[in-house]
Amino acid sequence: MTLLRVSVWRGGAQGAFREYEVPRRESQTVLDVVTHIQRHLDATLAYRYACRVGMCGSCAMTVNGAPRWTCRTHVDKVAVDGRLEVAPLRNLPPIRDLVADMREFFDKWARAKGQFKGGTTRKEDFAHVAPASGPRKLADAAIECIGCGVCHAACDVVAWNPDYLGPAALNRAWTLVNDERDTAQVERLRAVAGDAGCHSCHTHMSCTDRCPKQLSPTAGIAGLKRATLAAALRGEL
Ligand code: SF4
Ligand code: SF4
Ligand code: FES
Repeated sequence: MTLLRVSVWRGGAQGAFREYEVPRRESQTVLDVVTHIQRHLDATLAYRYACRVGMCGSCAMTVNGAPRWTCRTHVDKVAVDGRLEVAPLRNLPPIRDLVADMREFFDKWARAKGQFKGGTTRKEDFAHVAPASGPRKLADAAIECIGCGVCHAACDVVAWNPDYLGPAALNRAWTLVNDERDTAQVERLRAVAGDAGCHSCHTHMSCTDRCPKQLSPTAGIAGLKRATLAAALRGEL
């Protein structure tokens, strides 16, 4: 039987890597490896997952230094010389073992005004947004985000400045900037135009390179830079 040597982060911020040996299996994912450790070697290991099929985003971890969905990452693609290193997502406080605290991540969505604000009541007809309209296409291109935190973990600007809103929150703001029904556009552009907002992005593209949904937060952030400049020229910011 071939064994995989796995270093797994244990504890909180002051923790350390611990070594395990896990039997290799065909089509084995990194999540399968973590689950084997928790079920057969150390029941105290804390980690998070739900769907196992790339729908929920909760299984995101750092695998050999890069953020990934562990349920969609095959060991064959990432193991180096029969070794794996698994840690919690970067740029968020670790709670315990492989579980990162996502509160800051979602607080940033709220700070970026990532909530839809409508202007009609249930007595009115549905809004009609043409599928082929330019704003609708821009919103569609960014809307499939499932909030996994992979892009946030990949972003060096978040690492340098933890206050930076980051790619996921700004991508969400961009979908709403393009939502013709939304009535909070000026507040949203003000929220993303500040020091910790879209103008802090260095266009490294790490978020876009790593997003498992093939979204491009970088393109959305560039759109926000243009939109905030236009709003400033109109005297709205
Ligand atoms: S933009 Fe992509 S990587 Fe970032 S949170 Fe959304 S789905 Fe995850
Ligand atoms: S493009 Fe901007 S948001 Fe994306 S990783 Fe680079 S600096 Fe971060
Ligand atoms: S467990 Fe849901 S995306 Fe991996």
